[in-house]
Amino acid sequence: MHRRKIIIDTDPGQDDAVAILLALASPEALEVLGITCVAGNVPLPLTEKNARIICELAGKPDVKVFAGCDRPLARKLVTAEHVHGKTGLDGPVLPEPTMPLQADHAVDFIIKTLRSEPSGTVTLCPLGPLTNIATAFQKAPDIAARVGEIVLMGGAYFEAGNITPAAEFNIYVDPEAADIVFKSGAPITVMPLDVTHKALVTKERNDAFRALKTPVGAAVAEMTEFFERFDREKYGSPGAPLHDPCVTAYLLQPELFTGRHINVEIETLSELTLGMTVADWWRVTERAPNCTFMGNIDAEGFFALLTERLARL
Ligand code: RIB
Ligand code: CA
Repeated sequence: MHRRKIIIDTDPGQDDAVAILLALASPEALEVLGITCVAGNVPLPLTEKNARIICELAGKPDVKVFAGCDRPLARKLVTAEHVHGKTGLDGPVLPEPTMPLQADHAVDFIIKTLRSEPSGTVTLCPLGPLTNIATAFQKAPDIAARVGEIVLMGGAYFEAGNITPAAEFNIYVDPEAADIVFKSGAPITVMPLDVTHKALVTKERNDAFRALKTPVGAAVAEMTEFFERFDREKYGSPGAPLHDPCVTAYLLQPELFTGRHINVEIETLSELTLGMTVADWWRVTERAPNCTFMGNIDAEGFFALLTERLARL
């Protein structure tokens, strides 16, 4: 089977953790060239530590983990401890990491990898604010054309915002970075709240994680039980939305998702709607399509894939 080469850019975060576990559980389909960490849900020292904790939980201590940007391009960092807890991985008690953090800066790793791998063969999988990706594009303008695909979690249209009335967290934290990425010309596939809010860890689905009777199954059950509080309170959801694992699931079974090739632009000026993904879903403008924006998910199929793969770890 063709193995897709990927770089996961992430701000773990419980849902990032599940996305990473799903990728590491699928080596026949995905070759994880590296995990690059960014400030987002919690500050960078925690996101890079959490990424290493998750790699070791998966039994993959050889994965290369890099620390990247510790703040947005042009704004103060906004974090989400109110959702993910102080550590960013609240819920399970997991051992401190022993695997090393790579010495290279994440941005330099992204640039080096895109320049050394054959053009069009590397997929970037941003699961947090787009600061690392945008910084790499600014530092090395030649690499955007070498990206095979960007498959990112971020934005919203019908679901509006989760951090402000208008914006989703990843885009809101660094709207300037998102603007650079969406204007880069690289092929982009977007997993917005419109699909991730349909990937909810109901009690039955959480019970299925526990029923794996493995440390990974227990940890995922405990992470999602912690992480669901925010959405239960705010939306009355019956469980945690697995935002970031939608990216990994798309790489493994794209047929689980449906969407449209449309134009999306990022609000970077108005304080009222800062970070809004202005998605031309109904094609009412002449703006050229620049991404495939997902609108639906086969949630049963998603959870069947996720549970089957987690059982491998
Ligand atoms: O809005 C959800 C996104 O913000 C997810 O990636 C979550 O991990 C946080 O980063
Ligand atoms: Ca994330």
